[in-house]
Amino acid sequence: MSETTSNKLVMSSAQFQKLAKIIYDRAGIHFPESKKYVLESRLGRRLQELEIDSYDQYVSLISMGPYQDDEFQEMFNKITINETSFFRNEPQLEVFEKVTLPELLESRKSTKRLRLWSAACSSGEEPYTLAMIVHRTLGIRLMDWHVEIVGTDISELVLEIAQSGKYTDYALRTTPALVKQRYFKRENAFWVLDPSIQSMVSFQKHNLKDRLGAKRFGQFDVIFCRNVLIYFDDAMKTQVIGTFGQQLREDGTLYIGHSETLRGLDVPFEQLPIPQGFCYRLSDGEED
Ligand SMILES: C[S@@+](CC[C@H](N)C(=O)[O-])C[C@H]1O[C@@H](n2cnc3c(N)ncnc32)[C@H](O)[C@@H]1O
Repeated sequence: MSETTSNKLVMSSAQFQKLAKIIYDRAGIHFPESKKYVLESRLGRRLQELEIDSYDQYVSLISMGPYQDDEFQEMFNKITINETSFFRNEPQLEVFEKVTLPELLESRKSTKRLRLWSAACSSGEEPYTLAMIVHRTLGIRLMDWHVEIVGTDISELVLEIAQSGKYTDYALRTTPALVKQRYFKRENAFWVLDPSIQSMVSFQKHNLKDRLGAKRFGQFDVIFCRNVLIYFDDAMKTQVIGTFGQQLREDGTLYIGHSETLRGLDVPFEQLPIPQGFCYRLSDGEED
């Protein structure tokens, strides 16, 4: 049973272990015991909203019965970090724009098809940034190309924002002024994305743990998966990167976050020697 101290529910170590296991089993996110306070502070309010007075009851609610999926979403929205912004880590995006994209435009010139995946895209800033880069690179030639950009995330809440295409100043905090001028329109408190960019991106809910589910997306020329691997342990990272190995074309490129690495993982990728790139290719002999 949970105890309360001055109206704050205390999560016991056993309750934390159960919750951490549910989160890991369903989403692959690893919460070490040292992060118990994070779950406690973020979920305390949720328990109050539900008028539940013990974490044991809450564990039952998210692990069985008709509301478990809905409640898992609610919980997930509270415990994950959705931090993102347009043009996040510009030096890395420059590598995409100046190296990967020109190579792809050359190698795909006969089919004129490009497919990009922003996996764990949060509220859409990352896939829309890729769309703007492709848009400004191709210019009028875009009419001849079939460009598909898919943004996926496990959280429905962030995908709703992504689909709205409406953002606050905060989302544009790392956006170059010219981009802002060209691709956004100010509407009251919001920056509204230009329809030409919005129409280049589609969004779907997808859990990176779901290997089979990823197959429905088909193969991509580029996969961006930035700033989510840090929440996974090595087993989950290996699984997710292994899936990307299946979903990436043999000459495709995988981009990860600047504080993430695939070093030490048993995965079929090798890092490209491009400073600031944090990008990988399938190792020889591993492509389908
Ligand atoms: C910090 S954001 C990164 C957003 C963007 N990629 C960037 O770098 O700006 C991490 C995102 O990963 C999502 N996420 C966490 N676990 C996930 C999982 N198992 N499957 C899919 N998305 C997940 C979260 O919902 C969150 O939106």
